[in-house]
Amino acid sequence: MTAPLRTDPTTVPVALGERSYDIVIGRGLIASLGSRIEALRPRARVFIVTDKNIELHHLDAVEETLAESAIAASQLIVPPGEGSKSFRVFEQVCEAIIAARIERGDLVIALGGGVIGDLAGFAASAVRRGIDYVQVPTTLLAQVDSSVGGKTAVNSAHGKNLIGAFHQPILVVADTALLDTLPRREFRAGYAEVAKYGLLGDAAFFSWLEANWREVFAGGKASGSGAREHAIAVSCRAKAAIVARDERETGDRALLNLGHTFGHALEAACGFSDRLLHGEAVAAGMALAFEFSARLGLLPAAESERAIRHLAEVGLPTRPKDIAGGLPDADAVMALMAQDKKVKRGALTFILVRGIGAAFVERGVDAAQVRAFLSEKLAER
Ligand SMILES: NC(=O)c1ccc[n+]([C@@H]2O[C@H](COP(=O)([O-])OP(=O)(O)OC[C@H]3O[C@@H](n4cnc5c(N)ncnc54)[C@H](O)[C@@H]3O)[C@@H](O)[C@H]2O)c1
Ligand SMILES: [Zn+2]
Repeated sequence: MTAPLRTDPTTVPVALGERSYDIVIGRGLIASLGSRIEALRPRARVFIVTDKNIELHHLDAVEETLAESAIAASQLIVPPGEGSKSFRVFEQVCEAIIAARIERGDLVIALGGGVIGDLAGFAASAVRRGIDYVQVPTTLLAQVDSSVGGKTAVNSAHGKNLIGAFHQPILVVADTALLDTLPRREFRAGYAEVAKYGLLGDAAFFSWLEANWREVFAGGKASGSGAREHAIAVSCRAKAAIVARDERETGDRALLNLGHTFGHALEAACGFSDRLLHGEAVAAGMALAFEFSARLGLLPAAESERAIRHLAEVGLPTRPKDIAGGLPDADAVMALMAQDKKVKRGALTFILVRGIGAAFVERGVDAAQVRAFLSEKLAER
C-alpha cells in the first residue's frame, strides 16, 4: 500500500486554563493550516519564521494554504542550526516582526525544528509584550517535545537556553509528512525523546515501540499504518499531562529530564556540535541512568538491559564508547554536570528509575557514586 495522503487528525488538548490549546497531529495536515488559523483568529496577519532547509522543502505549502484562506503573510528565513538561537538573530527576528507591522492580535508562525520554535516563540513572547504564535514543528523532536509546553529561549555565552520565557502557543499543527524530508540521523535523534516517554512513565508504550519502531521510522509510507502518528500523539499526551500538572517546572516536570543530566554533560563535552546531537546525548544519558539505577539496586539488571537494547537497536548511542572522538575524564564530566541548571546547591538531582515506565526524581544522589560509575563507563573505550 502507498502512503495515505492524509490521515484523520488526532487532537491532543493541552489543559492550561486560559492558556489551553490543541496539538493537532496527522499526515498532510499542513494543507489545513490556513483554515485553522482563520477559524481561531479571523483576519489576523501572520509572520512566518523558518530556516533555510525548511524553506527549501516546505515553505511553499505553507504559503499556499495561507493564501487559500486569504491570510496576509510575511516571513524571515534564518540560517539553520543552533547558532540561530543567539541574541543577534533574536534581535533580527523581533525587528522583522515589528517592521512587518505585526500587532497584538496578529500571529507569529514558528515553522521549523526546536531551534525555530524556541527562537520564534521567544520573539513572540517579547515583541509588544507578547504576541500569540502557532507552532508548526518540522522535526520529530519538535513534534514530540519542544513545541509542547511553552518553553522558549535563546542561548547565552554562559550556557544553553539561559535567556527565555514561558509562552504557550495558541495552536500546534504537527504534519507528520513533513518528517519525510528530515535526515534519518535527525529523525533517530528525535526518536530518543519518544522512547523517553515510554521509559519514564508508560511501560505499555515502550513495549509497543519495541514492536513497531520500524513503522514509526517509515512513517506509514510502506503500510499506511498510522504508527508514526500514534507514537507522536502518545508522546504529546504524555508531555501535555506533565506540563498541565507543572507548567513552570517546580516539581513533576523534571521527570522529562530523564537521561538529560548525563546527556547534557556529554553534549557539552562534545561542544554541542554535530558530533553528538541532543537526542543522541539523551539516549546515551538514559542508558546511563538505567544502568546507574540498576547499580543502586533499584531495578533488575535485565530490565535495564532491555531498555538499553531498544535504544541500541534503533541505532542510538548507549555507551560513551559509541560516541566518536575523545571524551574528557570523569572529573571533567562531573564538572560539566555541576554547571547544569539541574544542580541545586551542590546536591545532584537525577531522574532515576525503578523499572521501565517508573522514573522518579531523586534530589540527593551521592556525587562520589556517580563519579565512580562514570569513570568506569568512560574507561570502557
Ligand atoms: N522548548 C523546549 O521545550 C525544548 C525541548 C527540547 C529541545 N529544545 C531545543 O530544540 C533545539 C533542537 O531542535 P531540533 O532537534 O528540532 O533541531 P533543529 O531545529 O536545528 O533542526 C535540525 C535540523 O533539521 C533541519 N530540518 C528541520 N526540519 C526539517 C525537515 N522537515 N526536512 C529537512 N530538514 C529539516 C533543520 O534545518 C536543522 O538543520 C535545541 O535548541 C533545543 O534546546 C527545546
Ligand atoms: Zn531533550
